[in-house]
Amino acid sequence: MKGRVFSGARPTGKQHIGNYLGAIQNYVQLQDEYNCVYCVVDIHALTTLDNTAELAGNTREMLLDWLAAGMDPQRSIIFVQSHVPEHSELHTLLSMITPLAWLTRLPTFKEKVRQHPENVNYGLVGYPVLMAADIVLYKADAVPVGEDQLPHLELTREIVRRFNTFFGPVFPEPEAKLTTYRRVMGLDGVNKMSKSLNNHIELSATPEETRKRVLTMVTDTSRVYRRDPGHPEICNVFALHGFYTADRTEEIARDCRSAALGCVDCKKSLAASMNEALAPFRARRSELEQRQGLVEDVLADGASRARAIAAATMAEVRSQIGLLPRRG
Ligand code: TRP
Repeated sequence: MKGRVFSGARPTGKQHIGNYLGAIQNYVQLQDEYNCVYCVVDIHALTTLDNTAELAGNTREMLLDWLAAGMDPQRSIIFVQSHVPEHSELHTLLSMITPLAWLTRLPTFKEKVRQHPENVNYGLVGYPVLMAADIVLYKADAVPVGEDQLPHLELTREIVRRFNTFFGPVFPEPEAKLTTYRRVMGLDGVNKMSKSLNNHIELSATPEETRKRVLTMVTDTSRVYRRDPGHPEICNVFALHGFYTADRTEEIARDCRSAALGCVDCKKSLAASMNEALAPFRARRSELEQRQGLVEDVLADGASRARAIAAATMAEVRSQIGLLPRRG
């Protein structure tokens, strides 16, 4: 029997190439080997959001990118967290067996407190408990995540062990499946690519926008004059050539080192290969955008398939804990 994969991502709107290389590409491939459940975690987004005006729109945009990239709602269950109330219910129950100290010691929590000292809400502390609920509700075996999420996954495993010890063996311990590309750097070459830092390139950008943004990329900063030799191993443009111009990287590295290739030409050729690689995605995305009600249909079907699994797990959880069974 195929194992089950669960993963979630916050609704950040239109996805960028860092999202694709770091997560989406992997989500697509895993569909061959696993039964996959993919969730837009909009409740998680609320822990750090004071303005919800863009939340629904961002969820739709992200969904369109997921679908255009090949996440397949026939084979996988694709849904929105807030459409399946069992996530919130299990979160509450798991919170009762999670020591507060497990949560406040997490580096991710400390980081958020540093970033937003004025908004340290109760939900933020429980963020990893909600994440544990997401995963175990589907009894997932494997969870594709980036390195930054490993402490959260370890916490999920600890919660699972504690639950199983207290109430009997209900949940499997999920394994982390690290994504192949750990860190796609942004246009600045220093920070991870992210929309909030505006150092990103959207998958659905036009070829012209893509070219403009690529031309702003920071290259090897020790290369001041055109005749200076470059160092491809420390250059982010070269790193992206590795993804998009894989068949010519040796030649590019050689010409960079000998200064036969200048940074501007190197970036122009990167933009050209990116635009070529992204063309099929972009065509499919604009086709999907035209289809009225598509996202809503996919999400309604996803939520009902997710709920069937979630409701069965919750029945088992309530009974193992020993809550008075409800009739009907
Ligand atoms: N915390 C994850 C992130 O910030 C998102 C997430 C929520 C998640 N629930 C999940 C990831 C369950 C994997 C599995 O990226």
